[in-house]
This record gives sequence, structure tokens and C-alpha cells, in this order.
Amino acid sequence: MPHIAIISSSIRTGRISHRIALYLKQFIESKNLSTAEILDLQAYNFPIFEERLKFLPTPSPTLLDYSSKVKSADGIIIVTPEYNGGYPASLKNAIDVLYDEWYHKPVAISTVSNGIFGGTQVITSLQFSLFKIRATTVTAMFPNPKAQDAYNEAGEAIDKEAVDKRATTFINELMECIRKNNK
Ligand SMILES: Cc1cc2nc3c(=O)[nH]c(=O)nc-3n(C[C@H](O)[C@H](O)[C@H](O)COP(=O)(O)O)c2cc1C
Repeated sequence: MPHIAIISSSIRTGRISHRIALYLKQFIESKNLSTAEILDLQAYNFPIFEERLKFLPTPSPTLLDYSSKVKSADGIIIVTPEYNGGYPASLKNAIDVLYDEWYHKPVAISTVSNGIFGGTQVITSLQFSLFKIRATTVTAMFPNPKAQDAYNEAGEAIDKEAVDKRATTFINELMECIRKNNK
């Protein structure tokens, strides 16, 4: 069975987007599509980037843990909020600190906002950064507008039927990319 790592990007106090990471983990596991775990950037609490992992003389155990989880995952989902039209510094930090780990890695992006657009303006800048680091982004999107009203704190979707339908399309495309990558 494949393994998907879900990067929960927001480290903001009172963050909402983590609910979508919880939802996606539960969704993937309940459908028996893959094993899944959340790589929580708030819990990792990485320092601001100074140099890539491979050039650090004494990398922290948490950074080594994060690196091995990105490297060994068959696919990655990045859950990101939109901050001023871009993605948060915590995520840029977590992308730039690795390099080879991203190579040809299938990555699906789920965006989040508290407004009506679902954070979709993040897509272009995040996809470009992932392209530059040689990851393989899938085109399916999973935008989450008004996320504070759409999910509870446990990551349960309020309109489960509608959200599950959108999640199915999103995850199916990632799974297809993983299958082709693992051939
Ligand atoms: C610094 C900052 C900038 C924001 N900029 C945007 C934005 O450009 N577009 C948008 O739709 N929402 C924006 N928002 C609102 C976020 O969508 C909302 O706070 C959301 O809950 C962020 O995810 P988080 O709670 O997981 O951090 C911004 C929020 C913050 C804190």
C-alpha cells in the first residue's frame, strides 16, 4: 500500500487549515487508499532557513526525521493557507531545506482561506517553487473557502457528502500519479 505524507503548513496561533490536513488523513485512511501521516510544521518548529540539510554539519533529529519522511513517502499533500497572495514562510522554509528528497515526488496542493476564494492564488507561486525543486505537481486542486465554517476542529467536514466528492477527485489524481511513478 502506498504512503502519503500530508504537510500541514500553517504554524499560526489558532490556525484553521490544520483541520483540512486532519480531514484528508481521515478520508484517505477511511477509503483504504493509502497509509497517511501528517507532517505538522507547527510541531516540528524548524528554525528559519540558514542552509540546506545536506550542508548542515549537525542537523537536528527533527530535521532528519522530516527529511526521511518526505523522502520515503510515495506522495505528498501540501495543505497551505493563503497569506497575502502567497504561501507561509513556514512552508518555504520546509521546501528549501531539502533538495533531493523532492526529486520527482508527486505533490498535490490543497489551499485554504477564510474567504470565498479558497486560497487559490497560492497555487501559481507554490507550483513554481515545487517545479524549480523538481517535484511533480498534480493538477487537481482542493481549495477550501470559508474553512472555519466548513470543518470542525477535529477535521470533520460539515457538508461531508460534497467535500468527500471533491476530495475523491483530488486524491484519485494523486494516486494515479503515484502509481505511474512507482511503475
Ligand atoms: C498574514 C495573513 C495574510 C492573509 N492573506 C490572505 C489572502 O491573501 N487571501 C485570503 O483569502 N486570505 C488571507 N488571509 C486569511 C486566511 O485565509 C485565514 O486566516 C486562514 O484561516 C489562514 O489559515 P490558517 O488559519 O491555517 O493560518 C490572511 C491571513 C493572514 C494571517
